[in-house]
Amino acid sequence: MEKSRIDLPIGITLDRFIKSNQSQYPNAAGELSQLLRDIALASKVVNREINKAGLVDIMGNVGLMNSGGDHQQKLDLLANTRFTRALSKGGEACGIASEETEQFIDLENNGKYIVTIDPLDGSSNIDVNVSIGTIFSIYKKQTPPSEPLQESDFLQKGRTQIAAGYILYGPSTMLVFSTGNGVNGFTYETTLGEYVLSHPSLLFKNASTYYSMNEGLSFDILDKGVTTYITNCKEKRMSGRYIGSLVADFHRNLLKGGIFIYPRTNQYPNGKLRLLFEANALAFIAEQAGGLATANEKAILDIQPIRIHQTVPFYTGPKEMVTTLLAHINH
Ligand code: AHG
Ligand code: MN
Ligand code: MN
Repeated sequence: MEKSRIDLPIGITLDRFIKSNQSQYPNAAGELSQLLRDIALASKVVNREINKAGLVDIMGNVGLMNSGGDHQQKLDLLANTRFTRALSKGGEACGIASEETEQFIDLENNGKYIVTIDPLDGSSNIDVNVSIGTIFSIYKKQTPPSEPLQESDFLQKGRTQIAAGYILYGPSTMLVFSTGNGVNGFTYETTLGEYVLSHPSLLFKNASTYYSMNEGLSFDILDKGVTTYITNCKEKRMSGRYIGSLVADFHRNLLKGGIFIYPRTNQYPNGKLRLLFEANALAFIAEQAGGLATANEKAILDIQPIRIHQTVPFYTGPKEMVTTLLAHINH
């Protein structure tokens, strides 16, 4: 049954918004609300660190690689620590899987939920003062409360997400999330130290105005349909926009009407973006905002994960654009 939407005025705080919506989750007894608050609080701390990144020596590369093979930047690690600590203290989540750690972390409590997270997305943009983000998904633990957390608890289809969202650290910091009842965007009001509702009931703008793909990949794209689709975009004189921070590219397309494409390439034959840490959360948001998110054959949310750090090709945006792209790929 579709949950009824509660219309709340622009400008109300995240806390009040969460309280007003709590009645929709009679079985959650407030834990989900608290979990969202914990994530919001950690994001404020990360936001503070990001804002002073230019001033103190917390930027830059620590010389390690994460399990996806990317260089880990210092802020990646810091964000990972902040979110893990907040979730651990909160006690509502019993486990966390992060892009920055090889294995999931058992928080060893009785929390009902598990969280998957890309603590800092767009890390190649940290040291150039360009928008970056955090992406998170919340699931229910599947194994019975009496049993220890297992990897299978994290290998759930995105369709089972209870909530998902992202934080965009940009000119303003925004928290955009969904609990399965539409998508709402909150802007961080720095003087109040609060997120306030600024973008209620977000829906993908259906204008085919923008496309976002790293065109440096052009010679390495494995699906010719992608190349043809991009050529068509150019013939239609659409504008290309690509920041290289998934959260920023996705957010721009959500607001302005555009498609995001990260195809299969010679270097990344299964795509580069991570199913559990990036694609599932944004796919949840995309569908809740009336759009689509798919890999080559399936909706992202219907893919059965087989390992935590699995990657997928990722196409997301307004329904019509994604459907047309898929028709090119699979014709
Ligand atoms: P992360 O910083 O979490 O490793 O993610 C980087 C991702 C994503 O933000 C972006 O869409 C993509 O990598 C950019 O990849 P290319 O540089 O290959 O375009
Ligand atoms: Mn990322
Ligand atoms: Mn990351």
